[in-house]
Amino acid sequence: MTRRTLLFSAAALGMGTLAACSTGQTASRARTGTGPASGGGGSFGAGDYNTQEVADELGYIQENVRPLPSKDTRRVLVAGSTGGLGQLTAAHLLARGHRVVAHARNEQRAADVRRDLPGLEAVVTGDLKDLGETRRLAARINDLGAFDVIVHNAGDYGVGNEEILNVNSPSPYLLTSLVDPPRQSVYLTSDLHLGGDLKLGELREGGTDVTYGDSKLQILTFAMAVARRRPGPRVNAVAPGWVPTMMGFANGPYAPDDLRAGYQTQVWLAEGTE
Ligand SMILES: NC(=O)c1ccc[n+]([C@@H]2O[C@H](COP(=O)([O-])OP(=O)(O)OC[C@H]3O[C@@H](n4cnc5c(N)ncnc54)[C@H](OP(=O)(O)O)[C@@H]3O)[C@@H](O)[C@H]2O)c1
Repeated sequence: MTRRTLLFSAAALGMGTLAACSTGQTASRARTGTGPASGGGGSFGAGDYNTQEVADELGYIQENVRPLPSKDTRRVLVAGSTGGLGQLTAAHLLARGHRVVAHARNEQRAADVRRDLPGLEAVVTGDLKDLGETRRLAARINDLGAFDVIVHNAGDYGVGNEEILNVNSPSPYLLTSLVDPPRQSVYLTSDLHLGGDLKLGELREGGTDVTYGDSKLQILTFAMAVARRRPGPRVNAVAPGWVPTMMGFANGPYAPDDLRAGYQTQVWLAEGTE
C-alpha cells in the first residue's frame, strides 16, 4: 500500500489550516458500543470495542509515556474517545499530564472510558447520530468551561447513511458552531474524501444520500472554512491512514498503516509545541 502525506501549511494556503492526509482505505466498523473494558473482551476492551492492537498500544502508553512540566499542559476535549484513535489520543495526552475530558455516546461507554483511562477530568456524553443530542452535548461542554484544544475524532463507517452523515459531518459542524471556540481545533478526515462528493444539495434539503467519503470531504471543507472564518484559533484536519482500529478492521483484520502514527499527529497538534 502506498502512503502519501500531504501537508497544506497555514502559510501556504493563507487559511491557517494544516491538513495531513494519507492514502489507504478505511474499512467498515462493527461494534456493540456497550461492552465492558474487561470481561467479555480483554483489557481495554480488546475484542469488544477495541482491537488487540489498540489495547496493546494503550498498555504501551500507560507504561512508557511520562508527564510534561505542568506549565506546558493544556485542557483538551477529545470527541469520540471511548475507543480507537480517539482513545489513544486521549490516553497519550493524559499520560503527558494534560487535563483531558473524554466524550462517550452513552453512560455505559462513559463508564468504560473512566475505567480504561483513570485520571480523566470528566466525561461528557451524547450520541452524535442524534443532532438534538449533539446540541445538548454542546451545552454540556460549555458548562465545563473553555478548552485549549478540541479534537473532533468521532466517526462512523459501515452503518446506515444517515448515521454516517450525522456523526461525521453535521455533528462536528454543530459542536464547532455551538461550543465556545478553543485555541486549537483538530478534525479527523480520511483520504477517502478524495473520492467524495460534497453533496451540498443533500445537506441543504435534509437528504441523507451521503457516503463515508462524501462526509469526510464535507468535514475537510468545513475545517478549511472554520480556519478562514476564525483566523485566531488554529484549525487542522488530519487523515490518519488506514490503521488497525475497529473501524480499520471491520472488513477483515488487515490495515497497512502505522497505528501509532495514526494518533501522534493529533497529540502533536494538541500540544502545539512547534
Ligand atoms: N481507522 C482507520 O483506518 C481510519 C482511516 C481514516 C479515518 N479514520 C477516522 O478516524 C477517526 C477515528 O476512527 P477509529 O478508527 O478510531 O474508529 P473507532 O475505533 O471505531 O472509534 C470511533 C470513535 O467514535 C465514537 N463514535 C462513533 N459513533 C458515535 C456516536 N454516534 N456518538 C458518539 N460517539 C461515536 C466511537 O464510540 P464507541 O466506542 O461507543 O463506538 C469511538 O469512540 C474517525 O473519524 C474515522 O473516520 C479512521
